[in-house]
Amino acid sequence: MVLKNEYYEVEFTDMTHDGMGICKIEGFPVFVKNALKGERAQIKVIKLNKSFGFGRLINILNESPFRKLPICEHYHECGGCNLMHMNYQMQLDFKKHRTYETLKRLGKIETTVHDTVGMGNPYYYRNKAVIPFGMHNKKIIAGLYKSRTHDIFDMKRCYIIPKIDSDIIRFLKNVFTEYNIEPYDEVYNTGLIRHVVLRNSYKYDEMSLTIVTSSPKLPKKEEIVSRVIAKFPRIKTIVQNINPEKTNVILGKKSKIIYGDDVIVDEINNIKFEISHRSFYQVNPIQTEELYKKAIEYADLSGKEVVIDAYCGIGTIGLNAAAYSKHVLGVESIPSAVKNAERNALNNNIKNAKFVVGKAEEVIKTWKNYDVDVLFIDPPRKGCDKEFLETVAEMKIKRIVYVSCNVSTLARDLNYLQSMNYHVDQATPFDMFPQTSHIEVVVKLTLNREI
Ligand SMILES: C[S@@+](CC[C@H](N)C(=O)[O-])C[C@H]1O[C@@H](n2cnc3c(N)ncnc32)[C@H](O)[C@@H]1O
Repeated sequence: MVLKNEYYEVEFTDMTHDGMGICKIEGFPVFVKNALKGERAQIKVIKLNKSFGFGRLINILNESPFRKLPICEHYHECGGCNLMHMNYQMQLDFKKHRTYETLKRLGKIETTVHDTVGMGNPYYYRNKAVIPFGMHNKKIIAGLYKSRTHDIFDMKRCYIIPKIDSDIIRFLKNVFTEYNIEPYDEVYNTGLIRHVVLRNSYKYDEMSLTIVTSSPKLPKKEEIVSRVIAKFPRIKTIVQNINPEKTNVILGKKSKIIYGDDVIVDEINNIKFEISHRSFYQVNPIQTEELYKKAIEYADLSGKEVVIDAYCGIGTIGLNAAAYSKHVLGVESIPSAVKNAERNALNNNIKNAKFVVGKAEEVIKTWKNYDVDVLFIDPPRKGCDKEFLETVAEMKIKRIVYVSCNVSTLARDLNYLQSMNYHVDQATPFDMFPQTSHIEVVVKLTLNREI
């Protein structure tokens, strides 16, 4: 029998989806953070559930050749990254293997999964940082949440956001301290500053700053704005977002633009995009270019196709595909994102794309009688609505390119499409989130010919 607080010598034979090592003690699975497949180690069992337990790594007896010393000093307390102890090739292999296994196990799909497309430099890649502010020992702190908690730790530098983001956070901490502006305390529902959100354009020298506050009044607003833009002229727009709710959701319903026009411009594969503080925009610009190229390759466009871009955000996939299509129809539920998409079409002189506000599952029904050749799907983590997939199957769209940031819901949706006469041709994972266990996958499906 496995006992809590007891020490065991174990061998790790597999990894969990979030990068923990899996070992078995008398046949009972125990998950251990920071352990790698292939390693032997001494562990202490710290928690036991009915069918699995958790252990703490005490001493590695036989180190994996793929182990790497994490470059970040916060790695072991931070809830952000969880693969930094693996070398980069192992991270890429881990993601390919997980994609293949999840599609097979949950989706009953056996398809070719290509090697994960990785980055030349898998650090400093994020174009968006969301940083909570808090108080510790009467000092303002800002950082990320400690693993599996809502406790903030004071971050010195983060290795997956641009260096300038860490500098701006440090600067704001000092400014708020000087003006006695207190951070929000989610337990007592007091204080003002909840989060700071930074967005960076990859192609242009432009950034946006959003200060999320618990109430509308921001003391010393003018002084804050002028000091920030004097020190960091890359910041082209500043927004105050007001979120008075007791919630984990970052942005509240109301925003005030306090500097600039709430827009920064970026480019993906030579198409310009306007991004506002609310729009969804892929967080890894270098990989996004590669991801979209693959999506367009999978769509096999000749210039004659009618294409749907479902869950289109600010129109990024559809506008990238427009040059190779006859007509693009986009649908997205956030009205401001659709406005951005329309402006993006105009700014790039793209005339064959139209965007509609609404739920994909509802709007697609109004397009049911169109002869659609290709469908791009890029839903949020929860995947597609069943109603949406039912309509897609009814429309008998010839090719589908599914872009997913959650392999489990992808497997569920592909399983349904497979049962509706679609063939899953191939899949390519993209490493959009190096050092973390998140995976992005592009999948190509074709409608089987009716016999
Ligand atoms: C993963 S993002 C993809 C955005 C875009 N394709 C891109 O690559 O930037 C998913 C988008 O779906 C939108 N969304 C969520 N639920 C939706 C629904 N039921 N119908 C339409 N859009 C939805 C979100 O607002 C978000 O912009």
